[in-house]
Formats: sequence, structure tokens, C-alpha cells
Amino acid sequence: MNILNLLNNWNLLHNFTLLISQESIQQIQSRIDIIDIVGTFVKLKKRGANYLGNCPFHNEKSPSFTVSPTKEIYKCFGCGKSGNSISFLMEHEKYSYVESLRWLANRYNIELEETETSPEFKAIQLTSDSLYIINNFARDFFRNALMKTEEGNDIALSYLKERGFRQDIIDKFQLGYNPAARDEFANAALEGQYNKDLLLKTGLVVNRDERLQDNYRGRIIFPIHNQSGKVLGFGARIIKTNDKSPKYINTPENEIYVKSKILYGSYFARTAIDKANECLLVEGYTDVVSLHQAGIENVVASGGTSLTPDQLRLIKKFTKNLTIVYDGDSAGIKAALRGLDLALEEGLEVKLVLVPDKEDPDSYVNKIGAAAFNEFVKNNKKDFIFFQLEIALQDAGNDSSKKSAVVNQIAETISRINKTEEFTRRQDYIKRVSEMLKIEETGFNALVNKIIRDKITKEESKSFKDEVNIPVEPIPEQDTNADLLFNKDDLHEQAIARSLIEFGLKEWNEEQTVAQYVFDVMDELDLHELIDNKMITGIISLYRSWYEEGMAPTAKSFLYHDDSEVSQYIIKVMETDTEISLNWKAKFEVKTPTREELYKEEVTSTFNYLKLRKIKRLINENQTALEKATDTNQQLLLMQTHQYLKKMEAEIMASIGTVIYK
Ligand code: CTP
Ligand code: MN
Repeated sequence: MNILNLLNNWNLLHNFTLLISQESIQQIQSRIDIIDIVGTFVKLKKRGANYLGNCPFHNEKSPSFTVSPTKEIYKCFGCGKSGNSISFLMEHEKYSYVESLRWLANRYNIELEETETSPEFKAIQLTSDSLYIINNFARDFFRNALMKTEEGNDIALSYLKERGFRQDIIDKFQLGYNPAARDEFANAALEGQYNKDLLLKTGLVVNRDERLQDNYRGRIIFPIHNQSGKVLGFGARIIKTNDKSPKYINTPENEIYVKSKILYGSYFARTAIDKANECLLVEGYTDVVSLHQAGIENVVASGGTSLTPDQLRLIKKFTKNLTIVYDGDSAGIKAALRGLDLALEEGLEVKLVLVPDKEDPDSYVNKIGAAAFNEFVKNNKKDFIFFQLEIALQDAGNDSSKKSAVVNQIAETISRINKTEEFTRRQDYIKRVSEMLKIEETGFNALVNKIIRDKITKEESKSFKDEVNIPVEPIPEQDTNADLLFNKDDLHEQAIARSLIEFGLKEWNEEQTVAQYVFDVMDELDLHELIDNKMITGIISLYRSWYEEGMAPTAKSFLYHDDSEVSQYIIKVMETDTEISLNWKAKFEVKTPTREELYKEEVTSTFNYLKLRKIKRLINENQTALEKATDTNQQLLLMQTHQYLKKMEAEIMASIGTVIYK
């Protein structure tokens, strides 16, 4: 990982703009034909000097979207949206600035020249390319193992057939099997000269006893494809149910597998979604595959977690009609509902269908057949807002204070439908909800409007605050509290191991344990390299391998580890814990609640120290580069980077002050 990727992860994407050389940008700009670009997505007709079409940003019957080829801009006289070719791509395709440039470069066959920092960017690209290649090899290996080996036939194919999956559908989704032996895949991959580190990155193998071993052995393999059919990663399902191991193991986050951006099945669903102008969302891999088999192809799966903004945006590119088809008793339904307020903000129309008790879409479609399933979905679709209201009302019963809370909650949900072009839709909800709640429409309307106004005021004052708070000058180097944290000892590194061992199995949020969260953050921000202490690295990865095998590691697992160095170390770690908080206690004179009470804060603060250290390191690297830089453009870039890093540092410092020691 490198500075660019890190900044990316911190959502500071604008830095990427500096990656493409000014010459390339100019070249693209000189080639841009706005009629051609907008015309790719909107049907345009010539009207005098301009072109006219139906606005893609709001619903309209008579066209008011105007494109001027001479001014190279578009403007909609209905909703007021306007911009140039690049902002059109950013708005319409949800591309970032750089993605838009890449799209244009591709369109006009312009070779993008990248600036000085590009080697790092190229390195990411190179890694991604390699991961795709390995995944291809793996997919083929697993397919072969499923179809062409006796073990695959007997154990896996027979299982799939028993569940009713047809051969053509197994082929279409490229399902496979990872043999039960320890390292059949690992050996084949090593024989094929694939790089060990990259193999580990794919999650297909793990390092155990100094050897590569298969991570998915004995499991059915579901390849996960991106929009263009390339394999991003895999879901691996256990065949024999076993309480200890998780039912599915999925690819860990890496350069190409970014869970929050993936919808399983989207590659196979795209055309059908277009045609139906509707996207069905289910929970699992087998739901997608079975519905396809039944001829219902406009379906994708979220993997049972709540929808992320990126996933919602992806769906929105296909259609604005989202129908969630979940089993009624699943925990997934709650997870799904949680993401949905965001869906409203994105302008999606969300419907919900619950399949009957004890069934999921896979089992239900197998039970009643395609035609009946389609009928069922059609007849049982509920509007998401009304669904939410019904559930809340049931919960509230006759309790009048709970009921008024429901009114507020539903007003808040409706307030998210706040785009100008959605005015009628919002009024419609206000009317119907008032009826359902038997309250006065005018009063309810006023409440919704107040929430919208309050939000706008809040936003405005927030952005004002941001403006005054951002340091414009690079902050001069000085001893900050942060420096206290970079003493030679490894208390903070220890704290990570400790958090894992003590709190790893506790809940971080409804979807994740602390352990999962810790691993995700460490992967995402690449904090692994910060941990210098080999013992700690070892403990963390040992914990991780146990955890990912479905075991429940605790302090005892380590205390009784056969390596006495490990157990000695754990004892030491468990003893020294309070020193950090004591230091801080003396410094800030605050009462420190017990660690058990504050385990989430402890994990957060531990990470803050590591993040701070990471940023320090990046600042130093950047500083060195700045000293060497001779080119003014490059100096500018490095200075900007410095500012961002300093700002992040300040933010983390601030949260160290507020989150833990309030
Ligand atoms: N899932 C996961 N890890 C688990 C369990 C579930 O990633 N340990 C995800 C998978 O994407 C899975 C989905 O959540 O497909 C739904 O889980 P579940 O309903 O338990 O599995 P099914 O998809 O119904 O699989 P099957 O029909 O084979 O039981
Ligand atoms: Mn199932």
C-alpha cells in the first residue's frame, strides 16, 4: 500500500487528479465533443444551434435539457442542473474526476501520461492485474476439480445436483470445488509460478507451518464477478454442516475485492435489469443462482449485510426500482433496512417482499416454481416506507409516547426525499402516511418541512465551520501530543493484540465482531507494516488464522500455546495494559472508566494511535520527497499532500481528545 491508496481510503480522492499529466488533460479537453458524450446517454435532437432532450437527472415528459456544442455545456431548464462534459460523466455515471478522464481518454484513444507519482499508481495497477490473473487460474482450477475429478463429482457436484442446480447454470456461474486435501490448489499455483505474496493476498491460500495451504478446502466455490465479468474473488461454501467453521468464507479485502462495492450477480443481471427496469436484491449466492435457473435474471445479492452507498449507486446506474426479496425472519432484513434511508436520498424507489417463514428465495422458488414466484413478488411488494411504518406501529402498540416517536421517525425518513424533482412523490407519502397514522396532514407536512429546513441549516453552518477550520498553511513542525506516542516501546502495538485477545469476539456492530473490524481496518489502511514487533505480528496473524477457521480464540488459546515465548509474552501484555491509560490519566486528569466498559473506545483509540503513526510516517516520506523535488508542479503536489496529511493528523488528534477521554 502507498500514500495514494491510503488517501483514497480516506476519501480524499481529489488528490488523484494530480496523477494525470497536464498535457494529457489538455489533449482530452481538446477532443471533447459534448454532443457525442451526452448523446451516449441521452437522446438528443437538434434545435437551432443547440440540442434538446429529456433530462436524465429528473423525470420529465417534455424535454427541457439543452446542450450547447459551442459553449460545451448542458443546462436543464426544468431542474436547473448544468455543467460540462466531465461533470456530466461525474453526475450521470457517478465517476470521480479521474475516472471521467479515463473514460474520455479511452473513448478518444488518447494515451494517458501520468506524472511523477505514477510508479506507485502503476504498482497498484500491476497488483490488481496480477490478482485477476491468479483468480482466473483459480476459477479454472476449481471448475476442473468440480467437473473432472472423482472427488469433485462425488462430493461437490452431487451436492449441487441434489440441491437442484442444473448443469447449464453451474457452468454459467462458473461454480467450482476446492479439493479437501491440505494444499492441492496451493501446489498447483506454486507450480504455475504464481507469486506467493500475491497468492496470499487473494485469500485462496494461507500460510500455515511455513507452507501455503488451501483456505477453502472441501468447499463449493462461487466466483464473484465484476461488471465486465472479471473474477474479483470468491465465496466458498462448506458442504457438510459443521458448527465450528463458518458456512461461507469470502475473499479478504484487497486491491480488487472491495466488499462495499460488490453486488454478487451484477454481471449476469445487467441486461435483465434494464429490460425489467427493476432490480431484485436477495441475500445470498444460492438465491441469485436459483432465481437465474428459474429464469428470473434481474437479481443481485448483497451478501447479507446492509447496502452501502457504493452498492446503491451501482444499482441506481441500472434502474431506480429496487425490490428487496428477503426471508422474513432473517437478521438480514434489519441489516437491509438500515441502508435504505440512503437509498431514498439517492432517489431510488424501494419495495420489499418477504418470503414465507423458514424459506429463502432459493428454497421458495424451488418449491413453488418460477411463475408462482413471480406472482408472489408482484402481489406482495410493499413500499419500504409503509413497511417501516407498519413495523414501527406494531412495536409501539398502544403506547402513545412510542407512537409519537414513530411519527417523528417516519417524518425523518420522508424528509430524505428532498430533491426538487421529487416534490410530488414526497407529498404523496405525506398524504398517505397521515391517513395511516390518522393524523392531520397539514401538521405532518409542516413537521417534514421543518426537518428538511433544519438539515439544510445544519449543513450550511457545518460547511462554514469546515472552511474556517482547514489550515491553509502547512502546520509548522512542532512537538505535539502525538510525539509522546512515538516512544520506542511498543505499548500501542501491544494494545492491538490485547484488544483482539480480550475483545475480539465481542460485537463491534450488528454485522461485525471486534476481530473482523480490526482486520478490516488494518487491511484497509495497511497498518500491518507499522507493527515492528515480530511477536505481535505473529500473535495477530495466529489469532486471525484461528478466527477465520471458525475457532473462538481467547487469552487461554495463547496462554496455553505450545510456544512458551508466546505464552510468556501474552502474560506480559496482559499485565501492562493500564500503563497507557494511567499516563493519560495523569496528563488530562480525567476519570478512566474500566476497559471492559469501554472496549469499543479502547479499540478506536488504539487504532487512532496507529493511524497517527502511519500518518507521521507518510509525512516524513513526503517531506523527504519535497526536499528532493526540483519541479515546481511536483513541489506543489507534495505540499498539498502535506496539508492533507496534517489535516488528518489534526483530526485524529482531536478525536483522541474527545472520543476516549471525554
Ligand atoms: N454469508 C457470509 N458468511 C457467512 C454466512 C453468510 O458471507 N458465514 C453471506 C453469503 O453471501 C450468503 C448470505 O450471507 O450467501 C446469506 O447467508 P445464508 O442465508 O446463511 O446462506 P444461503 O445463501 O442461503 O446459502 P445456502 O442456501 O447454501 O444455505
Ligand atoms: Mn439458502
